[in-house]
Amino acid sequence: MSETIKKLTLEEKARLVGGETFFATVDMSQHDIPKLQFLDGGPGLNFEQLFGEFRSRVRVYGLDDSVEATGRMMQKMTTDFYNPEVLSEAEMELRDWLMKKLGELTGGEPFAPGCFPAGILLGATWSPEAVYDVADALGKEGAAYGISLLLGTPNVNLMRDPRNGRLFESFSEDPYLMTQLAPQMVKGVQDNGVAANVKHFAANNQESFRVGVSETISSRALEEMYFPAFHACVDAGVATVMSAYNSINGVPCTENYWLLTEKLREEWGFDGMVVSDWGAVYHPAEAIAAGNDLAMPGPVDPQPVIDAVESGRLPLETLEKAVERVLRFTEKWKRPEVNPKPDIALSDKAAYNAVIEGAVMLKNSSGIFPLSGKTALFGEGAKQFFDCGTGSAGITTDRTGCLIDELSRTMGAENVVYGEITDDTDNVLIVVRQIGMEGNDRRSIMLPEDERQMLIDTIGKAKAAGKKTGVILNVCGPVDCREFIDDTDGMFCVFLPGMGGAAALADLLAGNANPSGRLPVTFPLCIEDTPTYLNFPGDGKHVIYGEDIFVGYRYYDKKHAKTLFPFGYGLSYTTFGYSGIRVSAESFTDEVTVYVDVTNTGDRAGKTVVSLYVSDVVSTIRKPEKELRGFRKIELQPGETQTVSFTVTKKMLASYDADLGCWESDEGYYDFIIANSAEEIIDTVRVYGDWRSAYSFTADTPIKALFEDERVRPLLFAAFEELSLDIGAIYDNYEYNSFKPFSVVLREAGAESIPDSFTAALSEIRRD
Ligand code: BGC
Repeated sequence: MSETIKKLTLEEKARLVGGETFFATVDMSQHDIPKLQFLDGGPGLNFEQLFGEFRSRVRVYGLDDSVEATGRMMQKMTTDFYNPEVLSEAEMELRDWLMKKLGELTGGEPFAPGCFPAGILLGATWSPEAVYDVADALGKEGAAYGISLLLGTPNVNLMRDPRNGRLFESFSEDPYLMTQLAPQMVKGVQDNGVAANVKHFAANNQESFRVGVSETISSRALEEMYFPAFHACVDAGVATVMSAYNSINGVPCTENYWLLTEKLREEWGFDGMVVSDWGAVYHPAEAIAAGNDLAMPGPVDPQPVIDAVESGRLPLETLEKAVERVLRFTEKWKRPEVNPKPDIALSDKAAYNAVIEGAVMLKNSSGIFPLSGKTALFGEGAKQFFDCGTGSAGITTDRTGCLIDELSRTMGAENVVYGEITDDTDNVLIVVRQIGMEGNDRRSIMLPEDERQMLIDTIGKAKAAGKKTGVILNVCGPVDCREFIDDTDGMFCVFLPGMGGAAALADLLAGNANPSGRLPVTFPLCIEDTPTYLNFPGDGKHVIYGEDIFVGYRYYDKKHAKTLFPFGYGLSYTTFGYSGIRVSAESFTDEVTVYVDVTNTGDRAGKTVVSLYVSDVVSTIRKPEKELRGFRKIELQPGETQTVSFTVTKKMLASYDADLGCWESDEGYYDFIIANSAEEIIDTVRVYGDWRSAYSFTADTPIKALFEDERVRPLLFAAFEELSLDIGAIYDNYEYNSFKPFSVVLREAGAESIPDSFTAALSEIRRD
């Protein structure tokens, strides 16, 4: 590799660290360096981008100037490529040309890209297998089109505020759930020889002022909430990391040496390529110096980098390091001569199955579900779901489904009508849609006004006619349901479910499959209740992450606040019983195992998610009431019992202590909690973590912690008495300097040394 670098001129090196076209790297065939094609992304191949590439390659290489393509015509291709009857003759000509280009890539018939579920629906599956299968299908489709890198596989930006326009792209408000699901996306894509990309590093949680918004975030919140999913993807071998638009604590992510070099590479061991978000490199030389290897999109002017090297502002070796990473990436992920054939059936199955696993049944009273009798469907969504959001995660395809048709398949066409309630209607089912948009945060979590009105009117009519009513939420995130929840017998949420959404939901509604999705994000009662309400999206170009680590259920728990539907919530057509929670040991030093027996107590086979939360009973630093540390999705036949076990290590109990600048696990008692959701605790068992930590009692422990422990307090007085010191100093310091180490209190009171008797007695006392 270094041999190639030696042969490159400075200009060539500077060109290699930027893209050539909007979505491709530089083609330097004189050095055997091929161009590599990138494309978004997470829910499928973004054809709008691919079409743009065909055009820019025409411009760059002059391959084909026979075809006219105005911007308007290209725009039409994005929306109506698979709707040719609305295209003009000239547009059809362009379409044929694009088809031909697609065909050249697949080496035969081009196929429409699969539209896979959005990240939020994948989060709701709580199933690493379902996520892997989707990613595997995605990787196969990418490979069939000769794509080297799929952007946003995955997007792991934590769901900080439900109004974030791109909330739907990511998995959850809980970092642990993300660490279990996101790496599967990396593996599934890369197992097909396509590089994955985790984005946007880091803490890219809003669209307002997205280019350059400056975020004030504590190091603890970064470590505990915003970093873990990225770290997990690095551990899974992700090939590339995308650096984000925003600044963290004053430094743009693309210029952040601490973030891109110290944290990502030196601490986590990332050895792949850092690629900037599109247009996120504000200062090319500074970005390279920080560890950003590739600036996108292309074409990128190499001159600023050349100037920086020539003026000595950017050491040549630093540039060469970036070039080397780009070349290593190119060597590893260049495509073979012939692209593999797609497997459409496999894609369809993975997309369908993810919705079976991830659709969440939120309400089911009066036995509305599974449906029986005749159902009247309402809402445009019943004809066409919003399968995906818009922006880079928007998919142009004809692979989709229609709920009216699919429900006719599962319930019988004679039992399904659209838009009318008649005497023999049994159920009224209303689909409401809300799309998610890159570039736009939602102003509130209310449904769009026309959808809300249609919903309220239809529920009113259905109630007046004495019908059962159900609501299908086809939405990008939590919505405010207060206005209609009590008048609704049943509710499902499918989020933005991708091409299998209608078929899977129809099977769930008919009872052909049993719902097992669980919310990966809290549904608050209203937006005003959310932890970030006062700090989103910030003023001007600055936002303060004032809620710190108390995102999502960590906040509602702490405040004992009521929610509409808690994190982890979801219903089934069967019931589950839990018994016999137990642990392998009552005290442990490295790891301990928790067991619980789970029985299907209903009369249908079904899946449930068994969740383990941990709670630090007496914590030294402020902690959430409880945090998810394990979950398992299991399938049980009626009457069947399975023992589920979770192994918890000392490391899993650690929190990031900003004063110490490291992760630390309190010694002492922990509650291991088996729960159905963040608000429904099933059973708890208490275990002692038996180790010494930075928080163990010593003479240097802050007086507050020693004084407040009833076993220790007498020792403080005894030490003072032994040395004939004034015990008033203990009270004074506890009152006014409670974080002062006791050793300092003693010294300031006149002690020359710490009495041995005190040290010996203290070492006997373990923290609770
Ligand atoms: C988005 C990225 C996306 C990129 C390329 C940017 O505007 O933030 O998520 O991957 O464009 O489409």
